[in-house]
Amino acid sequence: MKILIENCKSIVGVHANPKEKLAGKEMANLPCLNDSWLSIENGLISGFGTMKDGTPSKATFDQVIDASGKFVFPSWCDSHTHIVYAGSREAEFVDRIKGLSYEGIARNGGGILNSAERLNKTSEDELFENAMRRLTEVTGFGTGAVEIKSGYGLSVDGEIKMLRVIKRLKEHSPLTIKATFLGAHAVPLKYKQNRQEYIDLIINEILPIIAKEKLADYCDVFCDRGFYTIEETDAILQAGWKHGLQPKIHANELDYSGGIQIGVKNKALSVDHLEFTGDKEIEVLLNSATMPTLLPSTAFFLGLHYPPARKMIDSGLPIALATDYNPGSSPSGKMPFILSLACVKMKMLPEEVINAATVNSAYAMGLSKTHGSITIGKKANLFITRPIPSYNFMPYSFGSDLVDTVIIEGKVQQ
Ligand code: NIG
Ligand code: FE
Repeated sequence: MKILIENCKSIVGVHANPKEKLAGKEMANLPCLNDSWLSIENGLISGFGTMKDGTPSKATFDQVIDASGKFVFPSWCDSHTHIVYAGSREAEFVDRIKGLSYEGIARNGGGILNSAERLNKTSEDELFENAMRRLTEVTGFGTGAVEIKSGYGLSVDGEIKMLRVIKRLKEHSPLTIKATFLGAHAVPLKYKQNRQEYIDLIINEILPIIAKEKLADYCDVFCDRGFYTIEETDAILQAGWKHGLQPKIHANELDYSGGIQIGVKNKALSVDHLEFTGDKEIEVLLNSATMPTLLPSTAFFLGLHYPPARKMIDSGLPIALATDYNPGSSPSGKMPFILSLACVKMKMLPEEVINAATVNSAYAMGLSKTHGSITIGKKANLFITRPIPSYNFMPYSFGSDLVDTVIIEGKVQQ
């Protein structure tokens, strides 16, 4: 199948020789090709150029799309989600409106433990169907790659069930998917008096099954106040590495937990959340290959303060953005809203948020070579907007549906 998209008002994120990530001042640079065309062949981007220099012969294409007035974007890479879950938690949402805290709800057996109880009672097929529906939903928002975590099983069977669902999603969804093992998401109630027993279970029982069945790409721990300590996190991440799983961790959401430092020490691909990031944490990140990933819809939904994105970028760091789509702290997978929040609440520029949600989030899921920019030979995962005046309109027009046509691996999605 060969597709030509012509008369594009602009193609955004065009990189002939892409860097694997963009840091500091580089983040404000968004290369675009105005009044242009783009061609797709065998699921890959095969060429682009300006209309004035002429398009390739139209007769050679199976489909020609007129993008007059419209923008072409590389698909968003959503590098942090929990979209395999059972039920929903709007009752806790109401409890929080009435004054309970997220941590207080968790201490009383709600929160992640509430989702775990429901997940363990739900069949693999039902989890799969619900997650597929969510993937279809986010495809319509312009997302072309998604990282999905386990972490609502919190038992051998539950965690393996979740990861098998993610494996099935990889096989059936057109989106590119990465799987992350998050057995250390919360401590299950029955291990409250003996946390070490659960950690031993993760290390000695669950991880070997995951390795044998190749069920995960990455290993995660919720390293924060009230969840897992830095010593526990260190032990789990080292065990993950022994099975070839690079860390991608939850860190510094609720406190200066030391999570960033322990993530960097263990060569994490990303450390995510980072509401509590100070000078020491920035220093550690500057000397690493770890991608700081911010999830502003969690701060929005839980009423936390936002991570210091401006300070981080001005210090020379790269930033990636993701949705954290999950039933407790961010029940939405809408990447364009994340971009708007990052601009409004963290003072990131439109160019910075677009780079953070494409090039840098591709890096945060190990997809730099194939995703995140308009580059010849990369996967043709992209979307065409409705007619819009400029790319600034994308984060500006929050809540609007600007995505008109979605193309994944060279196929127009219906
Ligand atoms: O990323 N912070 C830890 N885990 C999730 C929340 C999961 C939940 O509340 O169900 C998060 O925000
Ligand atoms: Fe999360």
